[in-house]
Amino acid sequence: MQEQLSSLLAKASAELQQIRTRPELESLKARYVGPNGEFTALMKQMGSVAKELRPAMGKLVNESKARLQALLDARLRAVEEAELSARLGPPIDPTLPSPDPGPGTFHPLTLVREEVCRILRKVGFVVADGPEVETEFYCFDALNTPPEHPARDPQDTFYFPATARFGNVSKRVPGERYLLRTHTSSVQVRTMLKGPPPIRIVSPGRVYRRDTTDASHSANFHQIECLYVDRNVTVRDLKALLDYLFAALMGPGTKTRFRPHYFGYTEPSFEVDLSAKHLPKVNKEWIEIGGCGIVDPEVFKSVGYDPEVWTGYAFGMGIERLAMTLYGIDDIRVFYQNDLRLLRQFTGTP
Ligand code: DAH
Repeated sequence: MQEQLSSLLAKASAELQQIRTRPELESLKARYVGPNGEFTALMKQMGSVAKELRPAMGKLVNESKARLQALLDARLRAVEEAELSARLGPPIDPTLPSPDPGPGTFHPLTLVREEVCRILRKVGFVVADGPEVETEFYCFDALNTPPEHPARDPQDTFYFPATARFGNVSKRVPGERYLLRTHTSSVQVRTMLKGPPPIRIVSPGRVYRRDTTDASHSANFHQIECLYVDRNVTVRDLKALLDYLFAALMGPGTKTRFRPHYFGYTEPSFEVDLSAKHLPKVNKEWIEIGGCGIVDPEVFKSVGYDPEVWTGYAFGMGIERLAMTLYGIDDIRVFYQNDLRLLRQFTGTP
């Protein structure tokens, strides 16, 4: 019996070496230690062993059983480890340098934003910032945009519930609502309330409107706002600045034109069109690029400036529209998809 036990162990050990998977291991286990297994059969023979030999034989069987179990356990661990490393793939050395670190690039919207700010800084503008969560006062009331104006319609604007709290954005008017700003023009008001003229600011930032996304609309997009307040500011100053800005940004072949329009915060107001036929995909004679005008005296009154003394101009435009014109991109959605094939094309300045 001793010989039978050791040859059985040797046979099991040899077979175990071939085992690669759990099902194989389970069936081997059944063949040896299952109810009809070979080892089980040997143990059953104990009954026929002479009484005086039984203690010694019992010890031997128990030892063999423990050895067999140890072999099975070791194989199970080996199979588990093999399964794990198959799932993890080949070993890696995390201390090696990244295979393609790449220099990284700026997003096209960042490039255009920075370039516009750079051009305007050259003529004395400073960058001003404002919050994306606004109150109705900064976004509408102080900009001479009355409650019945369509821009204030909940269909067009993202309002917060009356219970929303923003500790860093304080309300000025009791009961006014919080909203996501619909334009960067709110920064005009914030800047003027901070101190007296002269003022010359450029304010880029994200804005939000209830728009259904398509090739030319997005519920959030970016604008650049400008405000200049001083004595004797005229439409000529405004036109000259826009001509300078667009020629610097898009090349000397760029022309601008004003079309009369209505904005509550400027009077007169204009829409600005751009002609830049030298750019790729710009085959229309004129492209609308933004709004502008001479600051309405009502706006000055709401920030405590004397409209008899101070004059100013303001304009605002969409960064996406500028970038699409400049780079010949015809779908606004590509700006937000983070597709490296697009981003890799923007390695320099516009
Ligand atoms: N806020 C306007 C818009 O979002 C753009 C605009 C128009 C800004 C006229 C101005 C302005 O500063 O004077 O459509």
